[in-house]
Amino acid sequence: MAMIKNAVVYRIIIGLLLLTIAGLVLKFVVLGRTGAEVDGRTTILLEPSERAVVLGEMRQFLSGIQQMLEAAERNDAAAIAKLARPLGMAAAHAVPAGLAAKLPLEFKTLGHSVHQDFDRIAMDAEAMNDVRLSLRQLGETMKKCVACHAAYQIAPASGP
Ligand code: HEC
Repeated sequence: MAMIKNAVVYRIIIGLLLLTIAGLVLKFVVLGRTGAEVDGRTTILLEPSERAVVLGEMRQFLSGIQQMLEAAERNDAAAIAKLARPLGMAAAHAVPAGLAAKLPLEFKTLGHSVHQDFDRIAMDAEAMNDVRLSLRQLGETMKKCVACHAAYQIAPASGP
């Protein structure tokens, strides 16, 4: 009798632990830290320093793309490869874990896919030396910039 009771208790404990784990995954991997929608976009709540990290990365995207367009006009595929590489996955790995936990999964997925695109743009520019291909790839990638900006904004978190 006692053994059966123990087995039931263990099952309940394991069930509760699994629920807790599922809850943590949902909170830190899938949902992130978001607030009320103001203009139809989901608001991601970040500390001012974290917001600065994300926006800093964004300005690197913009500046990189601007320089890639100039390089394309000069027909300089090698320069495009050099500009695209630092915007690739290497930059994504520099994001601190605490910040990653506050970003919704869809946001992280879209962000990663943009970084992967820049790795691809760098690789192809080097291999094919074709600025028209680079321009086409940039145009495709920028659809993701547009999509994410339409869906999300960032606001400073107030309180814990
Ligand atoms: C995964 C989502 C996402 C992707 C992908 C993305 N952005 Fe952003 N970006 C944001 C958010 C969110 C903001 C903040 C907007 C706000 O709070 O109103 C932002 C802000 C910016 C800013 C303003 C920076 C500042 O200092 O205020 C620039 C410039 C920018 N993004 C450029 C880009 C470019 C170029 C790309 C594509 C190569 C890109 N972003 C891709 C989400 C994204």
